[in-house]
Amino acid sequence: ARIRHYKFDVVATNVTKLCSTKPLVTVNGQFPGPTLYAREGDTVLVRVINHVKYNVTVHWHGIRQLRTGWNDGPAYITQCPIPPKQSFVYNFTLTGQRGTLLWHAHILWLRASVHGAIVILPKLGVPYPFPKPDKEEVVILGEWWKSDVEAVVDQSTKLGLPPNISDSHTINGHTGPLASCPSLQDGYRLQVESGKTYLLRIINAALNEELFVKVAGHNLTIVEVDAIYTKPFKTDTILIAPGQTTNALLTADKNPGTYLITVSPFMDIPIPVDNRTTTATVHYRNSSLTTTALTTIKPPLQNDTSIATSFLDSIRSLNSKQYPALVPQTVDHSLFFTIGVGVNPCPSCINGSHIVGAINNVSFVMPTVALLQAHYYNISGVYTTDFPGAPLSSYNYSGPGPKNLQTMNGTRLYRLPYNSTVQIVLQDTGVISPESHPIHLHGFNFFAVGKGLGNYNPASDPAKFNLVDPIERNTIGVPTGGWLAIRFRADNPGVWFMHCHFEVHTTWGLKMAFIVENGNGSDESILPPPKDLPKC
Ligand code: C2O
Repeated sequence: ARIRHYKFDVVATNVTKLCSTKPLVTVNGQFPGPTLYAREGDTVLVRVINHVKYNVTVHWHGIRQLRTGWNDGPAYITQCPIPPKQSFVYNFTLTGQRGTLLWHAHILWLRASVHGAIVILPKLGVPYPFPKPDKEEVVILGEWWKSDVEAVVDQSTKLGLPPNISDSHTINGHTGPLASCPSLQDGYRLQVESGKTYLLRIINAALNEELFVKVAGHNLTIVEVDAIYTKPFKTDTILIAPGQTTNALLTADKNPGTYLITVSPFMDIPIPVDNRTTTATVHYRNSSLTTTALTTIKPPLQNDTSIATSFLDSIRSLNSKQYPALVPQTVDHSLFFTIGVGVNPCPSCINGSHIVGAINNVSFVMPTVALLQAHYYNISGVYTTDFPGAPLSSYNYSGPGPKNLQTMNGTRLYRLPYNSTVQIVLQDTGVISPESHPIHLHGFNFFAVGKGLGNYNPASDPAKFNLVDPIERNTIGVPTGGWLAIRFRADNPGVWFMHCHFEVHTTWGLKMAFIVENGNGSDESILPPPKDLPKC
């Protein structure tokens, strides 16, 4: 195992897209930021130097941070932010993980422009459990606003309304064409050679959109999601939520030419609100670039739930001897979380109400001291440990019915003993309108053991759980108007954030955190904090 050093200079960079220029916060002047390469077992040291006027933190999304939660990155959860002109060295070891993940800023909406890929190769000499690709390519999907992103957030919090959607999706930083600014020539192009196979490491770094990815004329073979190997399967469309990663093999076995790639939103509410499609191309080397060979495709409709569901239902853990799925077969803590977005009265807001996100009727309030410090040093008054394990008020969770507006504010945490097994049934409540929420848990992978539509039935649904080869991930969409059951083992002491990976919903309060206690063994407690950890 090696030690890998990276230097991330957080700087303001002028960037021109969609025919306008704005200053953007980037790492090393790049959008997307640099790819972090390492091998399983390596230790990574990233010096983050803050040259901008905002506070900054970086989160290594999906890296387990075993006993090193200080390096996880969410502001005010595991660390105080890095103030302007200061730096912090993130230091962590890649234990038992290999595959594609992402890093991103984890404070306010800074991750819109501060994000990049993490590629963890298997240990030297260990092959992939699928045919070796001829070449690998990182494909990062993002969003682009012509206006300042923080102004977009302010608008949503002050007015109590949803923020404007972005002006374009991006593919490795390239936008699609905009009617008022035709710039198709700016599109991303994947160069291929006939007969060769490419491993696409696809990352959704967008803030608020689940995305469909489709390649004309070619099937994709899915081999990994969220740095977990899957049973390979073929598909012509991928669905990927913010925070998720998907590795797909593409073989250039069609007539040489230029083939369209489409990236379009998935939002399964009845009225399509966002029909934007960003395009890119697969181009066979030595073939002409003219549009005569361009195969056109139709992206899925924005609300095509059946394509989304059939893709998601095809994903299974590889569960081989070498890469077993260690699904907890018994449960020590059985939790039931209602998740959703609702409306609360707000006399000072323009409409007299504002939108809140909540889990079990608790809308999470960010503390001003990092929770992990408060926990480690026993600082009182920062949080309480009475996060409810079941909703505080019951109602019909799906479809029409009584609206549940009894949301309360709180910095409430749920305490878990070391190594206990946990099951959480996440029930989508759809108070305003039902919507798929990509829920992300820090510090763990979890197994998605069951899901369904409508209300979860504790009497009959558990019998249908897959406890053999369910997919293991760190981020997963809870079906619209339905439920999802996840299981994990609390074997990582620390304070761990769980939230919707739609940044707008996190802002509204759709988040909570777990405290995982230290165990009794010598290697079962969190390590001491780094010396240069920023102060609040
Ligand atoms: Cu990728 Cu808490 O986030």
